[in-house]
Amino acid sequence: MPHQVSFVNDQPTYCLITYGCQMNDADSEAVAGELAVHGWQRAEREDEADAVLVNTCVVRRSAEQRALGRIWQLAPIKRQRPDLIIGILGCLAQKDGESLLAQMPHVDFVVGPRDLPSVGSLLSEIRRDRHRVARIGHIDTPIAFEAEPLRQNPLKALVTIMYGCNNDCSYCIVPRTRGREWSRPAGEIEAEVARLARNGWREVTLLGQNVNSYCDGEHNFADLLRTVAQGSGIERIRYVTSHPKDLSERLIEAVAGTPTICENFHLPAQAGSDPVLQRMNRGYGRDDYRRLVEGIRRAIPDAVITTDLMVGFPGESEQDFADTLDLARSVRWDSAFMFMYSPREGTPAARWPDDVPTAVKKERLARLIELQEAISAKVSEASVGSRQEVLVEGPSRRSDEMLMGRTRGNKVVIFAGPADWIGQTIEVTITRASAHTLFGERVQTDNGQWTTDNGQRTMKNGQ
Ligand code: SAH
Ligand code: SF4
Ligand code: F3S
Repeated sequence: MPHQVSFVNDQPTYCLITYGCQMNDADSEAVAGELAVHGWQRAEREDEADAVLVNTCVVRRSAEQRALGRIWQLAPIKRQRPDLIIGILGCLAQKDGESLLAQMPHVDFVVGPRDLPSVGSLLSEIRRDRHRVARIGHIDTPIAFEAEPLRQNPLKALVTIMYGCNNDCSYCIVPRTRGREWSRPAGEIEAEVARLARNGWREVTLLGQNVNSYCDGEHNFADLLRTVAQGSGIERIRYVTSHPKDLSERLIEAVAGTPTICENFHLPAQAGSDPVLQRMNRGYGRDDYRRLVEGIRRAIPDAVITTDLMVGFPGESEQDFADTLDLARSVRWDSAFMFMYSPREGTPAARWPDDVPTAVKKERLARLIELQEAISAKVSEASVGSRQEVLVEGPSRRSDEMLMGRTRGNKVVIFAGPADWIGQTIEVTITRASAHTLFGERVQTDNGQWTTDNGQRTMKNGQ
């Protein structure tokens, strides 16, 4: 009907660009939900949108520069279309607040992570009154979005269970940008996951900077995981990030004993040298880390364990770095995110001399990546011949004839199959492997049927 079409066309449109971690991805989905309730529609193209919002990350200098570069790219568009509204969301907004408005005349507003629920009403206000605003006041307070997030992925959902971080890792800016920890009530999280399961989502990832310190006053993280796993009806549960100092026996037991919780531990080690770990204020040493991994592998032999590592922390000697290489050789992580240390203003480590020259940082990073890639390749090869439970996510990136899915350990698997397998959980035999990708074939029974059961789960239940 013409009337309806003109109504849709009158709706203002926005484009939302997201950098940073999964918390930022989840925040952007929550903001998109609020915007929809306030009558905003997603624009197909940035140059057609009435508002462009950039959700930012400042964890390393390179991340900050990427976001700033993107925001500066919007300046000429604003000169051509002065009505365009430009907003900076997230960690950069919190870190630099009003000074961003002073430095960037084309930016209309900045909103920190805990003020994001107000973006919907704020955008409508700005569209009406054209005032410039910085909202960064709610750094330590509880946060609640009213609308349901507008999720990007129809199979896998991100669910934020806590905001902020109470740790003081000496290099890290996140506590300054995301504030003190606040945990959402367990009942609310359970209800959200149950709703997702009812509406067809198959997998959730519970998100927090340190999920192991989740506490809503009554429940700890192991309690939350068990209740969500048992009561929500969701098929697969993951969570990130686990701080090694807080990962409890109870959590390992919960993962080992609950079929819906994936055997996937992201345990950032950061470094392998005790003096460096101490200066980082991580609260564990290399032997504690090793023992933790041994404990996990004893309880869950096929656990996939991944990590984050940093090179070039202030004072890191060649011996300290050799200790990181050594930890990599002994733990044999499935994969690792590896970074060069980058001083962040306002953190304790930024007051210390950044004394590892960039050339040395680069060279150490290259050596670490080379070692870890070789380990990842060997670990992957060892899974050739195994059967994996795979959630089929979609066509593979390289070929329309192949499908892509993920194992319980979150590894990518490529296999041949028709599009109607997408969304199903199937069994795949791994036939070939590279460092970060497995290749396989769907398991067939002797009479040519596809198996849909899941051996791993039955074994885990001891049935
Ligand atoms: N909360 C998570 C990680 C948050 S940031 C945790 O505790 O593990 C993600 C990763 O970025 C960190 O694990 C760390 O490896 C890296 N990182 C954080 N601050 C950094 C800095 N100043 N320079 C380089 N890497 C950094
Ligand atoms: Fe940063 Fe440490 Fe908190 Fe992770 S645990 S967000 S590295 S302060
Ligand atoms: Fe970046 Fe903020 Fe996440 S600094 S890593 S977007 S918490």
